[in-house]
Amino acid sequence: MSTPATPAPSFAVTGATGHLGRLAVDALLRRGIPAGNVFALVRDPDRAGELADLGVGVRVADYDRPETLGPALEGIERLLLVSSPDPGDRVRQHSAVIDAAKAADVEFVVYTSVLRADETELILAPEHAATEDVLQGSGLLFAVARNGWYIENYTARLPEYLGSGEFIGAAGEGRVSAATRADYAEAAVSLLTGDVVDQQGYWELGGPAFSMSDLAATITEVTGTTVVYRDLSPEAFVESMVDVGVDRGTAEFVAALETSIARGELETDSPALENLLGRAPTSLADAVRAAQL
Ligand SMILES: NC(=O)c1ccc[n+]([C@@H]2O[C@H](COP(=O)([O-])OP(=O)(O)OC[C@H]3O[C@@H](n4cnc5c(N)ncnc54)[C@H](OP(=O)(O)O)[C@@H]3O)[C@@H](O)[C@H]2O)c1
Repeated sequence: MSTPATPAPSFAVTGATGHLGRLAVDALLRRGIPAGNVFALVRDPDRAGELADLGVGVRVADYDRPETLGPALEGIERLLLVSSPDPGDRVRQHSAVIDAAKAADVEFVVYTSVLRADETELILAPEHAATEDVLQGSGLLFAVARNGWYIENYTARLPEYLGSGEFIGAAGEGRVSAATRADYAEAAVSLLTGDVVDQQGYWELGGPAFSMSDLAATITEVTGTTVVYRDLSPEAFVESMVDVGVDRGTAEFVAALETSIARGELETDSPALENLLGRAPTSLADAVRAAQL
């Protein structure tokens, strides 16, 4: 008599209509997880048509409406909690999901945090560190994908850089271990689908480090258009943004991120991303090339 096959666990991804969440759903399917075992958790189901077309389940899960979270997590064994994009409100939002995951007996949660969340001065880190603490205190099994910067933070602005021949910042010679969203999504899915005992814990994830001057040189080489990086003091960088209509609060926030880069807080030499992917992360040159298409 043959042994019945163990049913595949059910996976859910929050923020599935966002960039990273959508890529994670794609990565789950590419790994051969049956679409019937994949659930896209979304805030607005009217925007989930493409996800539904993939055959995955679509459920409403709004971090701000805890009553949606229990039903969304019913029967889910493994959850990718994509961090909220709302600084200031995130610990409450993430805690609501973690509470619901606990109540729903979710077996394993992967949370997208930021590099060295527990020790960096990066202004985004305290909310991630606080979420990590909530996970730690929840009794759930979990892995934390401490993601570095997205390469897309830069390549999304390629037309602007190419148009003006320069970009400005206050990052000095600081280096960023950025990687593409697709690589972070694949790494998160590798954690989510792997052996829970091996995968739990904290993973510092980033690609090969580059400075802003390196970025300018790569853009120049790949596109054939000369682009230079002009480094400003944080104060001058704030004023230059205010001059083009950015509100002062946002400008100061962006400048604070730049000074974090200057201090090396967005750089890591951890091989974890490459190890989880089982290949080298997408190079900066390839990401610039892809952004040109
Ligand atoms: N490493 C980096 O460089 C970097 C850069 C930017 C952001 N991040 C962080 O990484 C996360 C994922 O990045 P991303 O590029 O995928 O961001 P994104 O495209 O803005 O996606 C964020 C997702 O969060 C969802 N969301 C927002 N509020 C929600 C709520 N109240 N309840 C449930 N879902 C909610 C959004 O839903 P809708 O689709 O309905 O809007 C969206 O699907 C961001 O949210 C942020 O925490 C990292």
